[in-house]
This record gives sequence, C-alpha cells and structure tokens, in this order.
Amino acid sequence: MRYLEYLRRLMFSPSESWMYFDQRAQKLLKKPDLSLSDVAYVSSRDYRVWPEPVYADMINWIAEALQVSKDSDLAEIGCAAGFVAYGLSAKARSYTGVDLSPACARLATRLRLPNAAFIVGDGRSVPLEDASVDRVLCTDVIVNIPDERIYENLIREMHRILRPGGKILLGNLNDTRPLRADFDARIKEYSAGLPPYVEDEARESGKWMPWHFNRIAEYRARHFAPLDCDPAVFHEPAKFEAIGSALGMETNIISAHKLYPYYGFRYSVVYTRAA
Ligand SMILES: C[S@@+](CC[C@H](N)C(=O)[O-])C[C@H]1O[C@@H](n2cnc3c(N)ncnc32)[C@H](O)[C@@H]1O
Repeated sequence: MRYLEYLRRLMFSPSESWMYFDQRAQKLLKKPDLSLSDVAYVSSRDYRVWPEPVYADMINWIAEALQVSKDSDLAEIGCAAGFVAYGLSAKARSYTGVDLSPACARLATRLRLPNAAFIVGDGRSVPLEDASVDRVLCTDVIVNIPDERIYENLIREMHRILRPGGKILLGNLNDTRPLRADFDARIKEYSAGLPPYVEDEARESGKWMPWHFNRIAEYRARHFAPLDCDPAVFHEPAKFEAIGSALGMETNIISAHKLYPYYGFRYSVVYTRAA
C-alpha cells in the first residue's frame, strides 16, 4: 500500500482497532514457522486458553451454528491473521478472509491454507460481489465496536454479499443481561487457574506504540469526537434482532460454546437470509 494511503487510513478510519492488530501481526512477519499460538496472539487471544480442547470446541461450534459444509463458500469479516481460518477453512469449499490490517493479511497468507484467500478490505464496503457467498462469519469484532452505525453498516454488507438462504454468525458479544460484577469475577477466577503469562521476544506486548500513533491520537483528539474502543463494550441482543428484521432476515440469539471462558456472559447472533 502506498505510504500516503496508509497514513490516510490511519487518520480517518473510524475503526482504529485494526492498527493494534496490525502492529501485533508486524511483529511476527519474519518468524519462520507460524503456529496457532502465534495467530492467537495477533487476535489478542491468550495463548494459555486457546490450545485444544478449547480451540476445537470453538471451531466445531462455529461450523455447526453456521452450518458450514464442503458446499459452502465462506467469508470471514475481521479475520486478523487467520486464527479461525486455521481450523475452519478446511470445513468449507472456499474461505475468504477480509481484514483492514495489511500485516494480518500477509501473515495469514503465510499459513498456506489450501482453499483460503486473505484480502485487505473494510467490512463496511467489502470487496466481494453481491450474493457471492453462502456463509459469513464475523467473530470477536463487533465486541470492540460501540458505535451502532458502524456495526449496522458491517451487518448490511454481510447481508449484501450473502446468497439467498445463506447464514451470518456474529460471534461473541458481551451480554447486557448478566451482572457486570459476575462477569468480572468469572474472568478473575478463570485467570487464576491459568499458568503465568510468559512473553517471548517476538511478542513483547505493550511496547509497540510508535511515535506516529501518538501523533495520530493527538490529531484525532483535536478534530474528532473521542473513540470509545473499550474492549468490554456491552450490546443489547434486541439491537441485533432489530437490525435483522430491518433486513428481512430471521434472527436467532444463541449462547457461546461450552468451553469458552466467557460462556454464560457472551452471546452470538445467527441471521438467515430468506431463500
Ligand atoms: C479481535 S480481532 C478478531 C479476529 C478473529 N475474528 C478472531 O476471532 O480471532 C478483530 C479484527 O477485526 C478487524 N477489524 C476491525 N474493524 C474492521 C473492519 N471495519 N473491517 C475489517 N476488519 C476489521 C481488526 O483489524 C482485527 O483484526
């Protein structure tokens, strides 16, 4: 990507969270062999949680909820460096991952998944044709987006690229119904059962903020309303029902997968487009 275009996107994208994931992916671009734990790191997932059996539980749950089969052309919006594609793409006929982060797309391509393509693109204007896929996955993305206009736009695009009869899964949204205090207690309890987190050289987190990100943050603060990118954004399930109904889709609210650390505190949405 040309440098000016890169700067323009850093300045004006209302979904800056992609820069955080881009930075994480950049750290691993030169690493020779990529593991599931590496791509989990890029997705900001804790490597102590995501080996088996939790990973397989998630992949099987997604495949079942979305009814992914060898007849499905599947797209994932916000795929990062291919964490989900690593286990899911082989279950579909084809897989296309879309992410705003160029470094994520480069890293994911290095996984060499046989039927998968990774492209740099914005989920609000997906570079795919109308009605070109059977299944759309968007997991752990909207949970970081508090602005309803942005996620409504994302869902409209997912609907646009979906074939009649197709399905969309919005995975892992923080539920407003359980008590926040219980959620915090659950995270604390789960974390206490994990071994200590060990950083390695390639993955030092927290030291990546180069000067230009600070400059961009200052620029934004002067010219735009503050961005609330709190990772613990809570969403009303009713909002997703309303968006589904406005698009003429059937909406089902389902629970997270059983081994998920946030089971009981996060929900997912399955939309079905009329045949
Ligand atoms: C927490 S990661 C989740 C990655 C993956 N789906 C997973 O479950 O591990 C969120 C990803 O969404 C991407 N993202 C955020 N806004 C986006 C947008 N408007 N279009 C495409 N990707 C976006 C970010 O760059 C980041 O890679």
